[in-house]
Amino acid sequence: MELKDQIDLNNLPKHVAIIMDGNGRWAKQQGKARVFGHKNGVQSVREVTEAGAELGIKYMTLYAFSTENWNRPKFEVAALMTLLVSTIRKEIATLNKNQIRLQTIGNVNMLPKAAQRELSEAIERTKNNSRMTLILALSYSSKWEILEAVKDIAKQAVDGKIAVEDIDEDSIKHALSTKDFPDPELMIRTSGESRISNFLLWQLAYAELFFTPVFWPDFRKKHFYEAILNFQNRERRFGMTSEQITDTGN
Ligand code: FPP
Repeated sequence: MELKDQIDLNNLPKHVAIIMDGNGRWAKQQGKARVFGHKNGVQSVREVTEAGAELGIKYMTLYAFSTENWNRPKFEVAALMTLLVSTIRKEIATLNKNQIRLQTIGNVNMLPKAAQRELSEAIERTKNNSRMTLILALSYSSKWEILEAVKDIAKQAVDGKIAVEDIDEDSIKHALSTKDFPDPELMIRTSGESRISNFLLWQLAYAELFFTPVFWPDFRKKHFYEAILNFQNRERRFGMTSEQITDTGN
């Protein structure tokens, strides 16, 4: 049976988050510049987006550019920004055809103006699509996001809009840039690294983590299906015992 056909469509993660890693090493292996890896990574973005939408995944977050990535050589940062702008422009029609809504998280104000314009336009033009929400994490880091949330809540407290005793998990959830999305249930990282790297630290509290040695530019639909199948074979206990989970209560 094909991998895809083994997937239980009634037990899909609602939200899958992906750390796309290994572009540089993939390029280096072939004696090419790192940017060659990023360019080839775009095809993998297309593949997972399509695979996710076809299966019925409702939210997918891709870690496209971290706060730390600003420290890369200037020409690599510039190449990534150009790639982002050209890809978004090219893909709007496909996103609409597939009913995919684009969103971003992160300190998008840090991006070059051209990228900000392109993103705003794509977000506006895809806002009514309802099959899947594709969230690009751009100039994003989880510590930055949590810090912003803490400042926001502190300000509400100082302004008398919230009592300190009333601050709860929901107050934090609503102050994060992911407030409109459910927490990811599955996080995939490519390239053999087993780290979270400042990605959705609050939101991944109960996520299943899947690490694969495949470099991002080689990541295809079948690798995505493997991750989903692996997720479906895990027992998610949320701190309870195995018996509590399997006991139907009848
Ligand atoms: C990590 O590989 C990848 C990135 C920092 C950028 C990801 C960007 C893309 C796939 C292309 C554009 C994306 C969109 C959404 C249009 P790395 O450079 O850290 O690789 P390395 O660990 O081997 O050095």
